[in-house]
Amino acid sequence: MSCYIGIDLGTSAMKLLLMDSCGDIKNIVSREYPLEFPNPGWSQQNPEDWRRALMEGIPELLDGFDGETVAGIGVGGQMHGLVVLDEDDNVIRPAILWNDGRTAKQVDFLNNEIGKQRLSELTANIAFAGFTAPKLLWMKENEPDNFAKIAKIMLPKDYINYILTGVHSCDYSDASGMLLLDVKNKRWSEEMLAICGVKESQMPKLFESWECIGTVCEHIAKQLGLGDNVRVCAGAGDNAAAAVGTGVVGEGGCNISIGTSGTVFISSERFGVDNNNALHSFAHADGGYHLMGCMLSAASCNKWLMENILESDDYSGQQAAIGEDKLGENHVFFLPYLMGERSPINDTDARGMLIGMTMDTDRADIVQAVLEGVAFAIRDSVEVARSLEIKIISSRICGGGAKSELWKRIFANVLNVELECPVSEQGPGMGGAMLAMVACGEYADVKSACERLVHIASTVKPEAELTAKYEARYQQFRKIYPTVRELFREI
Ligand code: XUL
Repeated sequence: MSCYIGIDLGTSAMKLLLMDSCGDIKNIVSREYPLEFPNPGWSQQNPEDWRRALMEGIPELLDGFDGETVAGIGVGGQMHGLVVLDEDDNVIRPAILWNDGRTAKQVDFLNNEIGKQRLSELTANIAFAGFTAPKLLWMKENEPDNFAKIAKIMLPKDYINYILTGVHSCDYSDASGMLLLDVKNKRWSEEMLAICGVKESQMPKLFESWECIGTVCEHIAKQLGLGDNVRVCAGAGDNAAAAVGTGVVGEGGCNISIGTSGTVFISSERFGVDNNNALHSFAHADGGYHLMGCMLSAASCNKWLMENILESDDYSGQQAAIGEDKLGENHVFFLPYLMGERSPINDTDARGMLIGMTMDTDRADIVQAVLEGVAFAIRDSVEVARSLEIKIISSRICGGGAKSELWKRIFANVLNVELECPVSEQGPGMGGAMLAMVACGEYADVKSACERLVHIASTVKPEAELTAKYEARYQQFRKIYPTVRELFREI
């Protein structure tokens, strides 16, 4: 039986999984790498670290298995990151990541001088600091020598595909987040390329996510312990890949991902734009489209509290201290804007905040406030979708945060949504492997792969009493940011 490798190129680690064509996961390995914050609000990573994770991770994944059985590889990767190579294929500078906030000035230029309406006509989206186009403008202005050297522009997962195949490619879902793609018509926007001072010859060739871009180069296959003719599909942005991995394809499905970022992903067969551009309008990896809200710090807020503040690695122990009677009753609130915020407030100056403490506030209240603050901020994006008459009464959920039963219960009640938990919470890696299966002809299309391979393990239902309590808390939470917004600019 053939096997497939799915790769999730995440922000804290690369997660690789080996899956057979029946969907059984044979092995999972993870390779961590550092994240640099060279200035407050800046976020970058060295693509060489991703290369090392790939070149060491695949042999480790295949240890004890026959590498010759691997037929295909698919990558789901962190979106929007700017990776630039010179004409000798050297990486010019560290990749500027999706949660980097250095481009406030360029975002302002795009949204106010080019204008939101024009941007939306050209790309279906407006500018956000994490998107790729403002980063190109930033480089042009701040690092003109580096900018002049650019021969190839790509996104993080495309760098992995480039190492594997030597093909400079990108899929439509990930390309959507560059603010350089005419999302509706699935082609580069000439006008946007011109605004950013780049040429189409520097851009990757575009593919659907399940299309084969090429096979693994012979010398790389040897180093990795793979056989000949391993097909690599174009792959997808991690959120679109996660939606495939949780079976959210076609019309009207919803997936919530609680990873470093937190996203609400609504799939659609038809192209559509949120007229206020609070939600992104992107292509999906199934050939259709999706709307998405993205908060910049989700499970990472909990990680920050545990590791930086409480200096604890006992996540479940810290959560076990939260009493049942405390749910919906916490008087401490947390604003989760540790990296500024994208959806829906689009504010690089926003910061984290704890408010409402009293002398009897204890550690468990703070842990609970952080879990709740992330859920409230996800609800902000859900509310934008609801205001567009999109009904969200149930959703799939995935990502590291979905490992916590307590957190899932908080989400279900804050959102008043029934949460379906797939057997595997390896969203992007699973989706990547499934896209590779389609590229290799195991399934006719992405939808058929989902029908056959995605199974639901459990559901978490909202509880009427708790939902009512959280409704009241959410209405209080909503008032905090507008009240302190101006102060964030000063501090
Ligand atoms: C989506 C986004 C994040 C990253 C995280 O727009 O920026 O979800 O893709 O990896």
